[in-house]
Amino acid sequence: PADLGPAPTGTDFVAVAPNTDDVVTVPEGYDQAVVIRWGDPVLPDAPAFDIGNQSAAAQEKQFGYNNDFAGLLPVDGVPNTYLLVVNHEYTSEPFMFAGYDPDNPTEEQVRIGWANHGLSVVQVKGESGSGRLTPEFGPYNRRITGLTEFLLTGPAAGSDLVRTAADPTGTRVLGTLNNCAGGLTPWGTVLSGEENFNQYFANAENVTDPVAAERLARYGLEGGASERLWERFDPRFDIVATPNEVNRFGWVVEVNPWDATSVPVKHTALGRFKHEAATIHVTADGTVVSYSGDDERFDYMYKFVSSRRMQPGTSQAAMRHNMTLLDAGTLYVAKLTGDAPDEIDGSGALPASGTFTGTGEWIPLLRTTEDGRGESLVDGMTAEEVAVFTRLAGDKVGATKMDRPEDFEPNPVTGKVYVALTNNTKRGEDGKAAADVANPRNNNKNGQVLEIDDDHAGTSFTWSLLLVCGDPEAADTYFGGFDKAQVSPISCPDNLAFDPHGNLWISTDGNALKSNDGLFSVALDGPRRGETKQFLTVPVGAETCGPIVQENRVVVCVQHPGETDDATWDAPSSHWPDGGTAQPRPAVVAAWKSDGLIGA
Ligand code: FEO
Ligand code: CA
Ligand code: CA
Ligand code: CA
Repeated sequence: PADLGPAPTGTDFVAVAPNTDDVVTVPEGYDQAVVIRWGDPVLPDAPAFDIGNQSAAAQEKQFGYNNDFAGLLPVDGVPNTYLLVVNHEYTSEPFMFAGYDPDNPTEEQVRIGWANHGLSVVQVKGESGSGRLTPEFGPYNRRITGLTEFLLTGPAAGSDLVRTAADPTGTRVLGTLNNCAGGLTPWGTVLSGEENFNQYFANAENVTDPVAAERLARYGLEGGASERLWERFDPRFDIVATPNEVNRFGWVVEVNPWDATSVPVKHTALGRFKHEAATIHVTADGTVVSYSGDDERFDYMYKFVSSRRMQPGTSQAAMRHNMTLLDAGTLYVAKLTGDAPDEIDGSGALPASGTFTGTGEWIPLLRTTEDGRGESLVDGMTAEEVAVFTRLAGDKVGATKMDRPEDFEPNPVTGKVYVALTNNTKRGEDGKAAADVANPRNNNKNGQVLEIDDDHAGTSFTWSLLLVCGDPEAADTYFGGFDKAQVSPISCPDNLAFDPHGNLWISTDGNALKSNDGLFSVALDGPRRGETKQFLTVPVGAETCGPIVQENRVVVCVQHPGETDDATWDAPSSHWPDGGTAQPRPAVVAAWKSDGLIGA
């Protein structure tokens, strides 16, 4: 309608309709192409990918499995050239190996699994007039895997909780696992969240010490054998044999992609939980604020405020300093108070007051001084315990239990901060927290998006729900007040990104509306606030991850195509991207406007 004015710059496409097609669908007038797939070469001496003849040695030089976060960093002085940095969250062995026996993986299959985790750094070349990206071999190309050495920094480093027989210093960890979402820092590095690390560790059920057992249970560590049986080939994955190894995962990882020999870091001052990501806002005085969600039903939202200030520039000295920003400062957890809580009946319907709004406070948990010492701000816990068992600290201070806080992202244009709350079908169950203003729906299948007006370096904020997701025709959905007859259905918001114009983009994981996942734009300001439009859909069984929205291209990671309940190696539910009878392969995709710039 004319009274709305033109669509915000960058969102003037005709929305893609929901579908269940085994392709990537983009709007009319746009093109898309695969950038890089699982198994494609990252290093020049990588052998060609052969799905029937894989090896760990080959995979350590090839693009890993299940791409999640993606970042593009322009290479200084080389036009139209970027580093593409990608997380590889997890492996799905039954879809990777013909004849895989889940009860008896071979050692080589396990080693291939380790090599498929971690991150890839790949130089990519753009071309004028399109958004296509082509991988190249460059000096920064690198694979980081489940075996790469990391430096543990911050208040838990070296403590009794992280020392092992193999690493008596408690500072050298092999590998990063389950790297989900992430963020780019203004100083040129990449942050990556270690999310569901619990799934790799076996035999929590045989731990008898009640304190240890309680801590393990709070982190979802339970049962005997692990799903992939890695413990058969390395005792560090057996909690009884190596009790502290599990405490060396669940951190925010920082990688300097500009030095392929640099040792990546795990920052313990940011706390240990199922970090979906960490994303940065820098205040006017150079204080760095890192936001992070703990992706679990009924878990918490966190931020870290640095005591050091960011140094501008890209000199080696600036990089050295800036890579310590996340090692000194204060870690907080969020407590939300809703306005008019009595109006919330758990249905998700808009309350009589017309909005879902409230206030909040950041409760301090842990202060890390510039000499690296931790000070606990939680009664009954040491600093090391707060760092390593941060969820228990959040429990003690009464933090607000959220509906799976996933990506948590500041808007670079307005400074407001957004959180994707993916879903929580256990909300309102007996013995569980019931709906509140920020999580207004019991049995929440479709999730919501929270908008926070934060005093970034301070401790107070106000908030409102931007979206209560789902079928716009249903009463339990809300699109920022926008006309629901004119929006795309959206379910299970997961990753968030902003385009250069300050529009929000949301990718989804687990669409409960029975169509494929995808990527959506959301207008935030003016009469179109809440207007939600689907930009693309991904193939069968895939989730959409790692969105990057630039002036002239959109990049998404297509994760776990073909991962449906009924799929097997012999009867795949997807053949994307190679087509024919091929097995599905996770891959990164670029999309662009066929005749010019997206934002033009
Ligand atoms: Fe790996 Fe929370 O998604
Ligand atoms: Ca995710
Ligand atoms: Ca993001
Ligand atoms: Ca996900």
